[in-house]
Amino acid sequence: MKECRHVAIIMDGNGRWAQAQGLPRTAGHLAGSDNVRTIAIAASEMGIQYLTLYAFSTENWKRSKDEVGYIMKLPAYFFKKYMQEFLDRGYRMNILGELDALPPATEKVLKDAMEESKKNTGLNLNICMNYGSQREILLAAKHYAADVLAGKADLNLDEAGFEKYLMTAGFPPVDLLIRTSGEERISNYLLWQIAYAELEFVPESWPEFTPDVLKRCLEEYSHRDRRFGGVKNV
Ligand code: FPP
Repeated sequence: MKECRHVAIIMDGNGRWAQAQGLPRTAGHLAGSDNVRTIAIAASEMGIQYLTLYAFSTENWKRSKDEVGYIMKLPAYFFKKYMQEFLDRGYRMNILGELDALPPATEKVLKDAMEESKKNTGLNLNICMNYGSQREILLAAKHYAADVLAGKADLNLDEAGFEKYLMTAGFPPVDLLIRTSGEERISNYLLWQIAYAELEFVPESWPEFTPDVLKRCLEEYSHRDRRFGGVKNV
């Protein structure tokens, strides 16, 4: 099978999934967070080394106070329930986003998860929380400019040098980006990192996204002809 080291997923459709069953939208987020564990295990078993999940965007603050408050409590629920298992499996948790703007208790849970797992060498489970890609690139540019002004960097910056300023520093580029729930947009996600990613949009909502659907996505990916701007070898 074609190598696929890094899969990114836009976990969409939690709210619609719940509403279709007469449940509150928050029930979808709860089911969605349990599905993060299911898919992390499946991804790791399928040989994926980096799984990067969009949990909360810089634009998601526009949702109702109740919904935002509920999502902010999910990391505590999630890591209390699954952290030991993730540690036993050797997963390393990385949280991407501006964590200092989160409620302090949420920030602490996320930072603790990173700290406790930082020596692990298994699956990199990357959760994007208060993440927006334009903001990530802007912050990277500011950081670089500050380094230039401080004499710590010069103007000979190339792409690899700039990547070191991104929140994904040290990660390989995204090979496959999946969005669930039928929408076909990128929504300010990993704009730099998906430059040559293959894209797949699946109809299943995130709570319905099973390991079999992930397998189907990887099979489809394995048939793609990745040329990275070159020409097809004949
Ligand atoms: C998109 O569905 C989903 C979100 C904005 C929240 C995603 C959060 C999780 C899956 C849980 C995060 C898990 C951890 C561990 C923090 P939507 O609500 O936009 O669905 P809709 O398009 O049907 O309204």
